[in-house]
Amino acid sequence: MDNDIEKVLYSREEIAGAAKRIGKELTHDYEGRQPLVISVLKGAIFFTVDVLKEFDCYTDIDFVDVSSYHGGTESSGKVDLVREINTDIKGRDIILIEDIIDTGRTLEYMVNLLKQGGANDIKVCTLLDKPEGRVVDIKANYVGFNVPNEFVVGYGLDYNELYRNLPYVGILKPAVYQK
Ligand code: PRP
Ligand code: MN
Ligand code: MG
Repeated sequence: MDNDIEKVLYSREEIAGAAKRIGKELTHDYEGRQPLVISVLKGAIFFTVDVLKEFDCYTDIDFVDVSSYHGGTESSGKVDLVREINTDIKGRDIILIEDIIDTGRTLEYMVNLLKQGGANDIKVCTLLDKPEGRVVDIKANYVGFNVPNEFVVGYGLDYNELYRNLPYVGILKPAVYQK
């Protein structure tokens, strides 16, 4: 898989550092509370695990699965709900965990869904933020790295469902998706 990567943007160690920093910030900010962590599948699985290991707090965890890229490099513009949240979110303080915020459509969809369910408070934690990709005006509260406007894979992020298991984040060689 390494041969398909043009450039490594964030190494395994740099990502671990970001997860630790954000986990500690959350531990501080949620002291005395019991938030519900919701991880946005599939991309957020790796970051969710690493942040939660650094989050010292009573918290329950749930998952939602939404999809809009369908394996490609461009957002379809439509967010599909593949698996819904099974926890009652009414009145809950929610920490939403994402791998990347690009156009912002997925996040907008998720925030609306959580508000409809009666969430009390919603904070967003993302490994990567790509401000140049934004179509919807929406921001994260905890950000690992601001990423340049390139198509990136690894550490949860896929192209055609592959590369999620790379331990780092990198830019995919355009030749791979121009095939
Ligand atoms: C990707 C990524 C984010 C979202 C960000 O998910 O994991 O959830 O897109 O893009 P946006 O800000 O433009 O909406 P994807 O639809 O590829 O599903 P996946 O997580 O299962 O790969
Ligand atoms: Mn995703
Ligand atoms: Mg994807």
